[in-house]
Amino acid sequence: MARRKKIYEGKAKIMYEGPEPGTLVQYFKDDATAFNAQKRATLEGKGVLNNRISEFIMTQLNRIGVPTHFIRRLNMREQLVREVEIIPVEVICRNVAAGTICKRLGLEEGEPLPRSIVEFCYKNDALQDPLVAEEHITAFNWATTQEIDDIISLTLRINDFMSGMFAAVGIRLIDFKLEFGRLYEGDMVRTVLADEISPDSCRLWDIETNEKMDKDRFRRDLGNVTEAYAEVARRLGIMREGPRAANDETLQ
Ligand code: C5P
Repeated sequence: MARRKKIYEGKAKIMYEGPEPGTLVQYFKDDATAFNAQKRATLEGKGVLNNRISEFIMTQLNRIGVPTHFIRRLNMREQLVREVEIIPVEVICRNVAAGTICKRLGLEEGEPLPRSIVEFCYKNDALQDPLVAEEHITAFNWATTQEIDDIISLTLRINDFMSGMFAAVGIRLIDFKLEFGRLYEGDMVRTVLADEISPDSCRLWDIETNEKMDKDRFRRDLGNVTEAYAEVARRLGIMREGPRAANDETLQ
């Protein structure tokens, strides 16, 4: 790999300076963390799978008119993306109760929610990404009211599209997390989808068996984490082979 400037290293990805101004290279690591990085592991092949799955979803979203930072996949672990200013808010969309909403509101895991719910968390590791209201976001200038409106409508469109896409391959989209950024184009600023969409950032259950096919397998020590991610990729038609193909770095 040619030497280049590292812009930022996160828990599961590294951002490098891109080949042209206004672009970045997003590198997917095999590292997995949970519970605010208190639990860590390396899952061989995870980065390759997330790169492919995120490429697939972002490409479909671009096609239906959802603006994203994604330009194209470069190789097994990297994609070329537009440089955006990340809005420091994690956007969570939930269709079925699972994870933190169960504890917070005393819900049973698997309970369908009365309607899709969009939540916001302030992106701050030291504070463990606390849940915040729109009031906090606008008061502290993390985003404007217009940006929040755009984020909510894009998130609901993404939810509709992804729920259908996964249902078609026998997977229930329980919830997911998105990040958005500001794309500066001359005098214009656009709100675009950034980061990744993968089994690291979604809850995906088999429609028939409710088997978990996402990062909860790692969080809860259920085993076969990369195998489950590979099954998601296989069902989406991205990878014909099993997890061994994901480990083969020579595959383009
Ligand atoms: O943990 P919680 O139930 O709030 O997570 C909701 C959804 O957002 C899950 O799909 C989880 O994987 C995702 N998430 C994430 N990154 C975070 C927090 C949540 O991808 N920092």
